Amino acid sequence: MKQAVARAAIPHVVEGQVVGVGTGSTANFFIDELASLRQRISGAVASSEATRRRLEAHGIKVLDLNEVSRLPVYVDGADEINRSLQMIKGGGGALTREKIVAAVAEKVVCIADQSKLVAVLGRFPLPVEVIPMALGHVRRELARLGGKPVVRERCITDNGNLIIDLHGIEITDAAALESRINQIVGVVTNGLFARRPADVCLLASASGVQTLLAD
Ligand code: 5RP
Repeated sequence: MKQAVARAAIPHVVEGQVVGVGTGSTANFFIDELASLRQRISGAVASSEATRRRLEAHGIKVLDLNEVSRLPVYVDGADEINRSLQMIKGGGGALTREKIVAAVAEKVVCIADQSKLVAVLGRFPLPVEVIPMALGHVRRELARLGGKPVVRERCITDNGNLIIDLHGIEITDAAALESRINQIVGVVTNGLFARRPADVCLLASASGVQTLLAD
C-alpha cells in the first residue's frame, strides 16, 4: 500500500521544478519512485537528514531550502490525518523541518494508508520538539493541558533538540491547540499540521488509492 500511494504521488511532481520530500517509511517509497524522474526535476528539498541521504543515494540533487525560490509541491506521510486534512506528524522526529518545508510549499500532498485516517486527531501521541534546557518547563506546561507528556528516549532531532510525546490529549480544535503549544517558551514546534493542513491526501487501501480533498 505504501508503494502504491507513493507511486500515485508522482503525477503531482512538477517537471523542471524542485520537489519537497518528507520523512518516514511512506516517504521512502516516494523517494524510490522519484529516482526514475531525477533528470526531469531540478532537485529536491529534504525534510530530514535521513531523507537527504536517501535522495543522494539515488543521485537526486538535494537543495538547501534557502536556495529555492519556488516549491510547487511537498510530498510526505502522516501519523494521523482527518477529513479536513489536518495531520499529526513527527513520529519520525522530523516535524520541525517538515513543517518548514510545508510552509513554503504551494501544495502539500499527504501519502498514507487507510489506517492513518481518523475522525478525531489525538490517538497518536502528539510530538513536540523542545530546546533541551527547557525540557522540565515544557513538560510541566504540557501536563497542564491534560495529557501525559513522555520524553522520547534516545532521540535527538536533526536540530539538536529533544522530543516530548504528549499522550491522551483530546484534540477538539487542532488549530487552537497547535498555536497554544507553540506559545510555550522552549517549544520549537509541535506535530499538529492544522494551520497549514494538506491540500490533497492520497489514501491507500487494499482496493486502491483514493484522493481526498479537504471537506
Ligand atoms: C516523520 C513523520 C512521518 O511522516 C510520519 O511519522 C509517518 O511515517 P510513516 O510513513 O513511516 O508511517 O511525520 O516525522
